[in-house]
Amino acid sequence: MGANLALNIADNGYHVAVYNRTASRTEAFAASAGALSDRITACATLEDFVAAIRPPRPVIIMVKAGDAVDEQIAALTPLMAANDIIIDAGNANFRDTMRRFTALEGSGLTFIGMGVSGGEEGARHGPSIMVGGAESAWKRVEPVLTAISAKYQGEPCAAWLGENGAGHFVKTIHNGIEYADMQMIAEVYGVMRDHLKMDAPTIAAVFSAWSTGPLDSYLIDITADVLKVNDAATGRPIVDIIVDAAGQKGTGRWSAIESQMMGVPATAIEAAVAARSLSAMRAQRARAEKTFGLPVEHGRRTGQEVIDDLENALLAGKIAAYAQGFAVMAAASDEFNWNLPMQTIARIWRAGCIIRSRFLGEIATAFGTDPDVPNLALAPAFSKMILDTDAGLRRIVSEAALNGLPVPALSSALGYFDTYRRARGTANLIQAQRDFFGAHGFERLDADGEHHGPWGGQG
Ligand code: 6PG
Repeated sequence: MGANLALNIADNGYHVAVYNRTASRTEAFAASAGALSDRITACATLEDFVAAIRPPRPVIIMVKAGDAVDEQIAALTPLMAANDIIIDAGNANFRDTMRRFTALEGSGLTFIGMGVSGGEEGARHGPSIMVGGAESAWKRVEPVLTAISAKYQGEPCAAWLGENGAGHFVKTIHNGIEYADMQMIAEVYGVMRDHLKMDAPTIAAVFSAWSTGPLDSYLIDITADVLKVNDAATGRPIVDIIVDAAGQKGTGRWSAIESQMMGVPATAIEAAVAARSLSAMRAQRARAEKTFGLPVEHGRRTGQEVIDDLENALLAGKIAAYAQGFAVMAAASDEFNWNLPMQTIARIWRAGCIIRSRFLGEIATAFGTDPDVPNLALAPAFSKMILDTDAGLRRIVSEAALNGLPVPALSSALGYFDTYRRARGTANLIQAQRDFFGAHGFERLDADGEHHGPWGGQG
């Protein structure tokens, strides 16, 4: 991704120095840059690299999140001068980014934590860029970052989102939402494959049709594309021979952890992370299938009606995932005093990033109308969408449950809505239990203050 980002910068008319600790890779990269090589200075050592940049220097680090970032900062710091900027463009944990801000305080160097989304292709031709750090530092790099970013109807998908860890936090939640989006797409695929007995090309046609409707998005497009591809060796759809175990590098898990830390439910993201972990337990799943068998079928609806329900289920699930992700960002914004601009976040996610979609345009509009809406579900356009799609989600989750098809993210979305929409819940009983065994007290509907129950001396 670093190489592609450098090519993108050069493509936009800037001169860029590049360095990789493996000198042969740096040389190979410069040699492959073609017409752009005039604007690329390949450096064999870190000293040469820093010396090649005109002060005050902006330096972008693109290495694996974790220790490698600290090592790179430690190596760069003595070579750099006051007012130089170090930009970490990897998928860092925002808590590490906050620590790095603190560590660099007083050094004279400026630090930026920058989330970059769009994969290899995005880095090369226009990613979505989420910047965290001092606003004055952003101003210095803004021309380059807006030039290299994706454009949505001419508007750059790059923005300053807040101080210190704000950019990396927002990128983490972007990825958490990405996990939920991908998981729910996979669940709907599973219903079509295992319940409706559809083959990959037929499922591809359904996703292609959906990509022109309210689900129009990059992830739906690539799902349709992926499902159409045949394996060269066997001639079979390639998805049918790919192992059903998905990797994860951390950002999805961090989203779930941070939402829990902030006490904001992000059930669709949590379910997606858990589903990836379960996917990795292949041997256990094979053993469990031998032990339990698969559930007996309880009827199958067919035809366009069920396909429409699947589309609506996906849209309803998506609303839950985004409502949860934005609610987590709102809580983090308060906790870390970032003042995160929700509408701007939605706007810079409309192009370049992995979750880009028509839906994000609707979110941007909703936050434009009411920036303080406590939950996206309560924004009128989304309330209507929920009312329109709720029945489909409900039928799909019920049918999946009856037939033993796993839809953990979709059913968590339904559970979330059903809990959220019910003014009188069931935590009164939990409060009574807590008071019974721990004298934790409870509030009454009809009187102020803390109360305890008459538990017959057993409390
Ligand atoms: C992006 C992607 C990118 C990367 C993730 C994948 O926004 O461009 O999210 O950041 O593909 O790291 O994460 P997992 O390996 O955890 O799926």
